[in-house]
Amino acid sequence: MQKILITRAVFPEVVAELSRRFEVEHNAEDRPWPPEELARRLQGKSGAMATVMDRFDDPLLAQCPDLRVISNIAVGHNNIDLAACTKRGIRVTNTPGVLDDTTADLTWALLMAAARRIAEGDQYVRAGDWKIAFGVQYFLGQDIHHATLGIVGMGRIGQAIARRARGFDMRVIYHNRNRLPAADEARLGAAWIERERLLAEADFVVVMAPYSPANHHLIGAAEIAKMKPTAILVNTARGGVVDDAALVDALRHGRIAGAGLDVFEGEPGLDPGFLELRNVVMTPHIGSASRATRMTMCRTAMENMAAVLEGREPPNLVNVIPA
Ligand code: GLV
Repeated sequence: MQKILITRAVFPEVVAELSRRFEVEHNAEDRPWPPEELARRLQGKSGAMATVMDRFDDPLLAQCPDLRVISNIAVGHNNIDLAACTKRGIRVTNTPGVLDDTTADLTWALLMAAARRIAEGDQYVRAGDWKIAFGVQYFLGQDIHHATLGIVGMGRIGQAIARRARGFDMRVIYHNRNRLPAADEARLGAAWIERERLLAEADFVVVMAPYSPANHHLIGAAEIAKMKPTAILVNTARGGVVDDAALVDALRHGRIAGAGLDVFEGEPGLDPGFLELRNVVMTPHIGSASRATRMTMCRTAMENMAAVLEGREPPNLVNVIPA
């Protein structure tokens, strides 16, 4: 029986199903393994079912000659050195498509929470600071309806975010390297625009671009400087796509009105400046974290891994291994 490693705690049904087909080592404790431990546990394993926290770089892969597949339980795969995997004949798979709506929902939750100061209001009530029932100028925020939503990165999740703007009667503009076909733009009610103009015109700037070295600090000090002082920035894509230090600086000095963040540079560490700011609402990388979606992601990852190890084409192969 081939041996596989599941690097974090996943649903018991998934472990049970995999155990019928493979000899499974499972991290039921859910403690992230440091690289040396990951390498040690990968010895003799043909497959790894992994999360975005597990770094698969060339030095690690060099220690794992038996590894044939890394099945990421995620759509993003910037935790994996793809070129090194390809060179070593290791197939990499991900879970695209199944988390688009759930991630779009959370993006909207953060956008709305930042616009209407939900987290701040919640803390105020809990702290017992709410002494006068109603104030004309209490917790004034930004209107969402009829505002302009700017989406940077218009893949599947970006489009799911755009669809949701309909109900708020928003103007939707987007920037993407490749413009969508006109029919898709019409269906989404979204117009392509130069990035500079998007930054200048949007009331809400949502970043939904994958992390890659080319996208490192795609939104940095210069981009934030182009945004309106009333604008809100939302990042539910990946830490590093936004320059967090520049964002802290802008939020601290009121250069933009607020931010909603699910991802950070150096997670689970984050720029301590965020903790002192009231105009930022934060969640701990939970974009796809609904029960149903995480289950579907695990099942997709399971199918991808089983396909490779059982000699079939995996549904979601990320790298092509030359014959
Ligand atoms: C999570 O961050 C993912 O890439 O699916």
